[in-house]
Amino acid sequence: MSSSSSNVLTAFGTLIATYYAYNIFSFLYLFIFHRSTISRYLQPAIAPAASSTSEHRSWALITGASDGIGLGFAHELASDGFNIILHGRSPTKLAAVEAALKAQYPHISTRLFVLDAYPCSASAIDDYVRGLAKDGLCIRILVNNIGGGALVSPAFRQLTHFTAAEVQKLIDLNVGFPTLLTRALLPVMQEPALVLNLGSFVARIPGPWLTVYAGSKAFNMSWSRSLGLELRAEGRDVEVMGLVVGEVQSAGHPGPVGLVMCSSRTLAKSALDKIGCGRHTVAPWWRHAAILALVECLPDALLNWSMVRATRSLMEKDKKLLEADKRNL
Ligand SMILES: NC(=O)c1ccc[n+]([C@@H]2O[C@H](COP(=O)([O-])OP(=O)(O)OC[C@H]3O[C@@H](n4cnc5c(N)ncnc54)[C@H](OP(=O)(O)O)[C@@H]3O)[C@@H](O)[C@H]2O)c1
Repeated sequence: MSSSSSNVLTAFGTLIATYYAYNIFSFLYLFIFHRSTISRYLQPAIAPAASSTSEHRSWALITGASDGIGLGFAHELASDGFNIILHGRSPTKLAAVEAALKAQYPHISTRLFVLDAYPCSASAIDDYVRGLAKDGLCIRILVNNIGGGALVSPAFRQLTHFTAAEVQKLIDLNVGFPTLLTRALLPVMQEPALVLNLGSFVARIPGPWLTVYAGSKAFNMSWSRSLGLELRAEGRDVEVMGLVVGEVQSAGHPGPVGLVMCSSRTLAKSALDKIGCGRHTVAPWWRHAAILALVECLPDALLNWSMVRATRSLMEKDKKLLEADKRNL
């Protein structure tokens, strides 16, 4: 081999080694050394207008907070001292969650936001937010959690096998509702403020039979980045972070917590630990982040082949569960 081609190879090797060393360093930094800046959002209101003392403190609005990851965020933020607005569609379920939070964290205030996110009504959202503005609450955190693929059943299907109403429902819950709520709430939020958007692995590594869900989660992530950049460019002190989520135990995704599946509380805590890291999208639980990093190193053809096999096996498992449910009814 000539010395010039050996120099080119050495330079190429150094470049690749630097790239991987940088990625490993930023992984270790994020998961071991980074310290969350969540406490900056606990600052008291600039001009408190609400009546009771605890109501003057910072509020977090969490959508889909009656169960799963949303409920995990409600507990984690309440334990950090935030007042909580719990959103959901079932007044009974929300009242039970509110009672449990008040019992566990007596120093915080809570409110309920009962609204079915499907069909998504911009005027109902605007009316609710106008009410919050009138009450002068210091809203600093919005967690756009509501969404999922299993909100229609079966979740895994060819696009043409979904009804038009099912497609609309997935788009409303995953895209329409968070976008319209954020649009309405941003002018009312006090800075510094934080917006968290729940995404999914399928946004980065989409498989078949989940087209609408995967597409809508990709929207959530690209939207987080675009919104974060826009707010920064406009001089606003609003941190926007898209959360890339793998398997999490929840009402919509039951299963044992294990090597690749964490609890909803763990996911929420991991996400809050990453606040202030400066990234617009992040996989908050370290094992999800490690899986994603490894999978994204695979060559495209191998990745596509494995995604078809993995999603087919998930689809078959889902089908068996649904058949068993039908038999047990
Ligand atoms: N769990 C996972 O493995 C996983 C993986 C990747 C991404 N994610 C993402 O994480 C987020 C939360 O998922 P999850 O598994 O925690 O969901 P979940 O357990 O199914 O909980 C969904 C929450 O949304 C509420 N909800 C559902 N439909 C609604 C509607 N039409 N109007 C108002 N509220 C409604 C539910 O209320 P009810 O209690 O009344 O049903 C519940 O509080 C989603 O954005 C999902 O895409 C989850």
